Amino acid sequence: MWKVGYFQFRPLFGKVERNVERVVHALREVEADLLVLPELAFTGYYFQNRQEALALAEDPDDSPTVQILTALCKGGNFHLVTGFAERRGDQCYNSALLIGPEGVIHIYRKLHLFHEEKHWFDPGDLPPAVTRINGVGIGMMVCFDWIFPETMRTLTLLGADIVCHPSNLVLSYCQQTMISRCLENGVFAITANRIGTDTRAHGRIRFTGKSQIVAPKGVLLHRGPSRKEELYITTIDPREARDKQITSLNHLLRDRRPEFYGPLMAKNP
Ligand code: ACM
Repeated sequence: MWKVGYFQFRPLFGKVERNVERVVHALREVEADLLVLPELAFTGYYFQNRQEALALAEDPDDSPTVQILTALCKGGNFHLVTGFAERRGDQCYNSALLIGPEGVIHIYRKLHLFHEEKHWFDPGDLPPAVTRINGVGIGMMVCFDWIFPETMRTLTLLGADIVCHPSNLVLSYCQQTMISRCLENGVFAITANRIGTDTRAHGRIRFTGKSQIVAPKGVLLHRGPSRKEELYITTIDPREARDKQITSLNHLLRDRRPEFYGPLMAKNP
């Protein structure tokens, strides 16, 4: 059995150190195996331009934030998936990091950038991947990736048992849709959304909270509040995600007919 959960909170735009402190304070005494934080958990979301995103982003290989989070994982003996503004030279990615007691284990770079993110970030340039932690398949995707079912299907085909989904949601459709994503793929999903607003000179964005955990049969195990912080942890059996049988004669993956799905592989129309 695994103890999994999320920390839904209100990052303050541009206050990286304060946001890191907030997370450390909240997670310092938890007992868990896997925790998920929101997208861009330390920088905030509503950048003015690419220069501002680059200035706040960090290179994970040389990042005070990563060092502190690694120590946090070591202290609590858990793994953490967090949204992270990733700088690599002149490149800037909206990433998710899988961090454990020994440091960064895997980096996912958001493939499907939402709206003005296209002005701030480079699109992800790495294929989705699944990392095994104590035999459990951990996949990552970031926020708007949810609207492209290919993302979660790919993670499922790669062996994900739990899809970790750091988010800064602004539209209202994701939470409901993730119930279907879990049912159609037979996996767990942990959507960690933020709350509050980013109020900047160029505008204001409100985020919708309601972080949630969904089980493989499309069962909503928990959904959080829309405006309050919440640290939520529950116990799951990741092996439930190995049962892809729908009826005695139907299997979620083996019944697919990829020979007829050619258009899915074609370049954009
Ligand atoms: C989003 O992808 N942050 C909506």
